[in-house]
Amino acid sequence: MQQPAVNIMVKAARAGGNILLRHMHRLDALNVVEKDRMDYASEVDRLAEVAVVKELRRAYPEYAVLGEEGGEQKGSRGASRYTWVIDPLDGTSNYLHGYPHWCVSIALCEGPEPVHGVVFDPLRNELFTASRGSGAQLNDKRIRVVERKDLAGATVATCFHPRERGRLAAQFDCLRQVMSVAEDVRRGGSAALDLAYVAAGRSDAYFEAGVQAWDIAAGMLLVREAGGKVTDYRGAAIGPVHVAMQGRQIIAGNVRIADALQKTIAASGYAAAF
Ligand code: IPD
Repeated sequence: MQQPAVNIMVKAARAGGNILLRHMHRLDALNVVEKDRMDYASEVDRLAEVAVVKELRRAYPEYAVLGEEGGEQKGSRGASRYTWVIDPLDGTSNYLHGYPHWCVSIALCEGPEPVHGVVFDPLRNELFTASRGSGAQLNDKRIRVVERKDLAGATVATCFHPRERGRLAAQFDCLRQVMSVAEDVRRGGSAALDLAYVAAGRSDAYFEAGVQAWDIAAGMLLVREAGGKVTDYRGAAIGPVHVAMQGRQIIAGNVRIADALQKTIAASGYAAAF
């Protein structure tokens, strides 16, 4: 049975998703701002976040919020052990180009750790959910990471974030090593869906640098609950995801592939570039 908090998160994700669906045919009329170099947000991101936060706050007013658009907000009683970590539109660049691959991502963190996660893809009506210790699901069906034993033949998702251009040479050296054994590389444009797809066994692994808490908080729980492993480029645990923190790195996959990918990232010199 789904936890009450997850039901609220699903309702909130659907509310945000409806706003994104409603605006996606009016892209030309959207106000778009460049938050950082080649990092865009539109008024739809903000509207979707307002709708998500409204649903969550209606049920749990005392919990804190960390949203991509609204930043950090305290709960109704001040500081809280619980934080909603929200990306109302993960894959903003895809959305703004009319490229149909984006989602809503919501995690509930207890202290630094995600305890519930929801990633919702409104275009495909795919709902990924996970709760700590209770497994991960896609549209209520249990999902698992792949059973592949190593990187040979694997499909690996990654990203070339504008903020990371200074390390592009090291990233390409690393990719050359990955590609010498893997089948192929994917660049989907939504970190939350990249993680959800690893959890669902649709891709074998994912790695990226420069992600923010809201991009990965729900997805990393999905991967763990689907039997996978999530680390940074040195093989260490990802830091607290209830706070905004620049420049995180993430590797996700089944245990063997995550380890193999981490070794490749280290051996190529890419991990040392941080
Ligand atoms: C971005 C997407 C993208 C990833 C970036 C994120 P946003 O999130 O997840 O795939 O490569 O690191 O910032 O800005 O679309 O919410």
